[in-house]
Amino acid sequence: MRTQVGIIGAGPAGLLLAYMLRRAGIDSVILEKRSRSYILGRVRAGVMEQATRDLLIELGLGDRLCRDGLLHKGFEIRFANERRRIDLSELTGGKVITVYGQQEVVKDLLAALEQENYPLHFEIDDVHLEGIDEGAPCIRGRGAEGPIEISCDFIAGCDGFYGVSRASIPDGVLSVLSREYPFAWLSILAEAPSASHELIYAHHQRGGAIYSMRNKRLSRHNLQCDPDGAAKSWPADKIWDELEVRLNADNSERLPRGPILDRVITRMRSFVVEPMQYGSLFLAGDAAHIVPPTGAKGMNLAVADIKCLAAGFIEHYRAGRRDKLNAYSTICLARIWRVQRFSWWMTSMFHRFPDQDTFTAHMQIAELDHATGSQAAAASLAENYVGLPHSC
Ligand code: FAD
Ligand code: PHB
Repeated sequence: MRTQVGIIGAGPAGLLLAYMLRRAGIDSVILEKRSRSYILGRVRAGVMEQATRDLLIELGLGDRLCRDGLLHKGFEIRFANERRRIDLSELTGGKVITVYGQQEVVKDLLAALEQENYPLHFEIDDVHLEGIDEGAPCIRGRGAEGPIEISCDFIAGCDGFYGVSRASIPDGVLSVLSREYPFAWLSILAEAPSASHELIYAHHQRGGAIYSMRNKRLSRHNLQCDPDGAAKSWPADKIWDELEVRLNADNSERLPRGPILDRVITRMRSFVVEPMQYGSLFLAGDAAHIVPPTGAKGMNLAVADIKCLAAGFIEHYRAGRRDKLNAYSTICLARIWRVQRFSWWMTSMFHRFPDQDTFTAHMQIAELDHATGSQAAAASLAENYVGLPHSC
């Protein structure tokens, strides 16, 4: 099989790239390791920045997003018996976030691609990349119908943190910069109505908590937990009780409880590789960087990368120039580091560190007090939370 851009991975990054290239008349093929039902069922991020929303609408993907996405003009921060609202809209000149599950974005993209019979191959094992430094790249793998081989002009590695693309780059080319945090999140999706119409971020001496939702019937909550613990060591009652304690819920605010449909423990890390390109291979999304989820940035960063990468491919095929492709890594990394900084800052502020001393606890409270009490600091928080402008 021959195509222009071979894409590895059908997460938000790979699907969006395929969709943007298709709109521009550029051929691509996706190879995905997992099944169609698996990628549609995977519960992950839920907070969409203003620029992500605008892009999806501009691309004609906004029908369900505008109908079912929940517009949030602010969110609440709770700490030390304080409850402070960050008025995102007021502080950013009208920008908002949209709560719309990553699963729904994947569903919208997949429907749009499938409507046009886009070549997306699921359940492809043993994917490996060849010739990326020789200008004649090729992707090989094995599907239910036998071996598959795709020769292409470029490869987009959109295969997430554990994918093969990054690992195909020879040793010594990439700088890997990372930080592991000594805690994790227990994330639940529950069939329970929301008690609050806005997100709540809570700082508590027992650990951080985030109260979120997906729609009127489904809530999504996160509790800081031990990274070595098991999700099953958290019975439902313990989860709800702990959430109420950490959110400092008063009697009028008992959380509506309901069946827990999904529970997963995710370790937290910050991770970046530089550069995001080697020969004809371009990395995008989680394949190139991971942020701790406290800033709600993972999916948004993947979308921002793809906007630049698609612009680079479009310039190459339409104008025969590689300026944008050559600048891809540098341009993306400048924004990625700013988002890393915000995610690291939010993570440091909301989580209890093991053996944390009283001085550190006071620093966190002072930081929260400043971030929510100073107009200038709150504006900076809001500017980052609704999302920095795209660079391309
Ligand atoms: P992915 O969504 O990881 O997609 C990569 C795709 O590549 C997958 O479909 C995978 O199956 C496929 N693949 C992998 N290896 C191969 C291979 N060898 N061959 C072919 N295909 C392959 N972000 C937030 O902002 N908020 C959250 O609450 C949040 N929760 C998260 C929970 C979990 C458990 C995880 C793992 C991530 C979470 N994130 C969250 C991060 C966010 O979901 C990611 O940043 C986002 O999915 C990045 O999209 P992507 O397309 O780059 O990668
Ligand atoms: C979510 O709703 O999934 C969510 C909310 C806030 C975060 C991360 C995830 O910081």
